[in-house]
Formats: sequence, C-alpha cells, structure tokens
Amino acid sequence: MNFIEGSPQASEVTMTQLVLPSHTNNLDTVFGGTIMSWVDIAAAICAGRHCKKDVVTASIDALHFLAPIHKGWVVEIKARVNFVSNKSLEIGVIVDGFEPRTNIKHHTASALLTFVALNEDKTTSSVPPLVIDSDEDKRICDEALKRKAYRLTQKKNLLKSRS
Ligand SMILES: CC(C)(COP(=O)(O)OP(=O)(O)OC[C@H]1O[C@@H](n2cnc3c(N)ncnc32)[C@H](O)[C@@H]1OP(=O)(O)O)[C@@H](O)C(=O)NCCC(=O)NCCS
Repeated sequence: MNFIEGSPQASEVTMTQLVLPSHTNNLDTVFGGTIMSWVDIAAAICAGRHCKKDVVTASIDALHFLAPIHKGWVVEIKARVNFVSNKSLEIGVIVDGFEPRTNIKHHTASALLTFVALNEDKTTSSVPPLVIDSDEDKRICDEALKRKAYRLTQKKNLLKSRS
C-alpha cells in the first residue's frame, strides 16, 4: 500500500518472531530481555525509516509485561512514530503474543522509546516533520508532547542527583 511520505503509516514496522527455546527462561516463557531487544530493534527500524538516517535510543519509558508469552507462540511487535520534535522522535511499540493454531491474541506489553537522529559525523541531526492528517494521529502527537517534557525533567533530575 502507498502511504503519504512522512506520515506515521509510511514508517510503520511489524516484526514477527517465533518463540524458540533459545528465547525462553526456565519457565518456558519469553525472557524479558529478549522482548526488550525486539522492542528496541522494531522501534529503531521505524525511527530510521522516518529519519532516513542513523538513530540511537535516547530513552525507554516504563515497560510493563502484562502477560507471559510461551515457547512456540508467535510474537508480533508493531512500531509507529507518535511524535517528532527538533532532533528526536517518540516511537510507540505494541507487543502481542499469539497462541499457535488458534491464533488467539494476548496483549503483552506496550513501550514508548525516544530516538535521536545522527548525521554521518555522529553529531545530532534534525528530524523530518511528521505529516499528520487525522484527528487520532493529532491526539497521539499531543499526548507525546506532554510526555517529552516529563521525560526531560526526569533526565535533568537524574543528572543532578549524580553530580
Ligand atoms: C542520546 C544522545 C545522542 C543525546 O545527546 P545530547 O547531547 O543530550 O543531545 P542534545 O542535548 O542535542 O539533544 C538531542 C535531542 O535528544 C533529546 N534527548 C536527549 N536525551 C533524551 C532522553 N534521555 N530522553 C528523551 N529525549 C532525549 C533532546 O530532547 C533533543 O531532542 P529535541 O531537539 O527534539 O528536543 C546522547 O546522550 C547519546 O549518544 N547517548 C547514547 C545513545 C546510545 O548509545 N543508545 C543505545 C544504543 S543505540
């Protein structure tokens, strides 16, 4: 399907994984770190698609694991651009697990990640604007703007407490 260049839909990523024994913990469910890695990869691909540049993960907001995903299940990780700022962008990720054969879906996690775009010399780069053409995308954008301020305050407080 053709999407408008620069829209959230144009850079959306859907990554599908089969849970193999190497992905699991001693309970035969997916190891949390594996999910975190898949979330970061799907989000980085999405951010890179939008920016058309290298990106680095600047921060990841709280990640809650709401339901286990078992060995042999299929995992779908969906990432989309929520909001674009000057040099950074917020990516929203949804992780769902699917039972094999029945395809019953279990929502497992949601995550919000911020990426920063880089120039070839590794300095931080501006990010192309996000083309919004629906009320829903506008709402998502407005909410992300509020989260950005909170996140940067948290970083500032963290740096202050370490100095
Ligand atoms: C992320 C990084 C590039 C930010 O560097 P910096 O010197 O703080 O950059 P700047 O102050 O110029 O800020 C650049 C952008 O990052 C945003 N930013 C910086 N730290 C952030 C954080 N912790 N969370 C969210 N956004 C952040 C700023 O708001 C700014 O975006 P804006 O212009 O849209 O407002 C730098 O800290 C870094 O390289 N960190 C390591 C990244 C990494 O290795 N990630 C893991 C592997 S990919």
